[in-house]
Amino acid sequence: MTESNYLTIEEAISKKPQTVNLRGWVYRERKSNKFVFIVLRDESDIIQCVISKSKNPELFEKAEKLTIESSLKVSGELKKDERAPTGYEVAVTDLEIVQVAEPFPITEHQSPELLYDNRHLWIRSRKLSAVLKIRHTVVGAIHEFFRSRGYYEFDAPIFQPSQSEGGATLFEVKYFEDKMYLSQTWQLYAEAGIFALGKIYNMGPTFRAERSKTSRHLAEFWMAEMEAAWMNLEEVTEIAKDEIRFIVQEVLKHNRKELEILERDIKLLEHYAESKYPTIKYSEALDILNNEYHMDVPWGKDLRTIEEAKIAEHFKVPVIVTHYPTEIMGFYKPPSSENPKEALCFDALAPEGYCEIIGGSQRSLLVEDMKKRLEADGEDPENYSWYFALRQYGSVPHSGYGLGVERVVQWMCGLDNIKDAIPFPRTMIRKTP
Ligand code: 4AD
Ligand code: MG
Repeated sequence: MTESNYLTIEEAISKKPQTVNLRGWVYRERKSNKFVFIVLRDESDIIQCVISKSKNPELFEKAEKLTIESSLKVSGELKKDERAPTGYEVAVTDLEIVQVAEPFPITEHQSPELLYDNRHLWIRSRKLSAVLKIRHTVVGAIHEFFRSRGYYEFDAPIFQPSQSEGGATLFEVKYFEDKMYLSQTWQLYAEAGIFALGKIYNMGPTFRAERSKTSRHLAEFWMAEMEAAWMNLEEVTEIAKDEIRFIVQEVLKHNRKELEILERDIKLLEHYAESKYPTIKYSEALDILNNEYHMDVPWGKDLRTIEEAKIAEHFKVPVIVTHYPTEIMGFYKPPSSENPKEALCFDALAPEGYCEIIGGSQRSLLVEDMKKRLEADGEDPENYSWYFALRQYGSVPHSGYGLGVERVVQWMCGLDNIKDAIPFPRTMIRKTP
């Protein structure tokens, strides 16, 4: 039989032919002395298959050998059956076992650590395959968002000679006789790229040696970044809002079934897809925290997770917070000319406790100020001479931001831990498989 003779389970349920050929894996099996019930799983869905002893004793004997995750091909008659898990059942007329699986190491009620140890097997679970399909939508939406707005895709090196987001989270790697660092951001190279291409974007692997064991940090994650010439802070925050809203809309358009499998609150996502998102200044965020929630956050301190969560919960939609204290911001985030204590930067905070999903800024054109700030961080400004040279040859105002792909997938799927938003997570303590 050729490929075209097989339908996916989803195709079979929607086309409803009389007879079907399916192939997949045993998701569940139950045996009585009259019937073998197999719930067959493929990449699209699950369906119950029944093998009757009285109708076909030979097939019945064969089916009795099937174990969880065995691979097989079945042919049979498709019937509506309210009692079956997805409303349909296949009365099996032929069955080919491709491989009888050994006892599957994952059974019900396993510890999270066992599931991470068996990640190579666990990604086929209904939960993780639903997450991976939503991740596929999120990634596709980001490409579509930027490409449809005339942004060029532009690549930067992953081996980089210096830090850009703080030395504390750098991964150092041996590079022939020398050392280099794994990319913490695409941004510095993107600031060169805009002089060639104007508006650019990228999505790529990003590395941070995060020592924190939070549910929101990975050591290797994917960041989707944009950079544009002639753009100021206010303009770039509007793009970030549109991008977030577009991602939510695309997930709702393509992944209702997966959202249901994950028991995600779809009404909330619909609300995010239809709402406007507010922009507030850091100082206004402090007013809300301190006056309305009686917290005690002094001006000058970065917002902690609980404070970010409170702000997003206050508005019940993603919120843009701008003008964080210059002192605690990266060297490339410029002081505002109205109040140099405030930087022309922003974060986007997602509601429901998911917090920061985007960080970005207008970019500094003040070379001396940047050199001083790098020095204060223990860096040698000499290593950034190519970056500063960009300010010498037709410098223009420009801005950009980076969106954490796993942070957004985590939020879309309603996941407790960011590790479940990527197929094979890497953290300080999780290196395998
Ligand atoms: O706020 P960050 O550090 O910003 C930058 O790196 C800028 N250079 C981006 C730019 O302007 N082009 O990181 C951006 C986003 C964060 O908001 C967060 O969503 C995600 O990247 N992120 C992480 N996601 C998972 N694990 C980590 N360890 C992360 N660190 C940052
Ligand atoms: Mg940040």
